[in-house]
Amino acid sequence: MDKETRTLEMVFPEDTNPLGNAFGGYVLGLMDKTGSYAAARRAKKPVVTVAVGGVEFKVPIRSGDVLELVSRVVKVGRTSIVVEVKVFREDFGGGPETRELATHGQLVYVAIDKEGRPTPVDESNDAG
Ligand SMILES: CC(C)(COP(=O)(O)OP(=O)(O)OC[C@H]1O[C@@H](n2cnc3c(N)ncnc32)[C@H](O)[C@@H]1OP(=O)(O)O)[C@@H](O)C(=O)NCCC(=O)NCCS
Repeated sequence: MDKETRTLEMVFPEDTNPLGNAFGGYVLGLMDKTGSYAAARRAKKPVVTVAVGGVEFKVPIRSGDVLELVSRVVKVGRTSIVVEVKVFREDFGGGPETRELATHGQLVYVAIDKEGRPTPVDESNDAG
């Protein structure tokens, strides 16, 4: 349950407002994508997002920043999986010393069958 899924992204001007800060919805979209990878790997089934909670935007993310999204499965229910997603920002070419936690939140996914109905997640615990 402690394996992590990591994704790297770069922020471009079209992802930001006139102040140069990333739109919250853009960051949430990245969190949802990377969180769904972690949930589907654990469920060994396709998943859909059912809830997003506790999201906090702590420091601004700017055009040109490199983002590292780190997803970790923190709870497995019968058909649902809770994933904690942390977004770290880093200056492009700035190195790890510029890395800081920018955003975090918890997203809930539900494993679904071919008809889109909730279905039990895989019970083995070897998929991260
Ligand atoms: C996700 C979906 C399949 C769930 O269907 P449902 O009939 O409401 O499912 P259930 O009531 O049986 O709940 C299924 C699981 O989800 C959990 N769940 C449902 N709503 C939840 C919520 N708001 N927050 C947290 N968990 C929730 C339940 O606790 C249950 O977990 P468990 O099986 O581990 O105990 C259905 O709501 C759906 O298709 N939603 C749209 C999904 C989507 O399009 N997502 C993209 C959004 S843009």
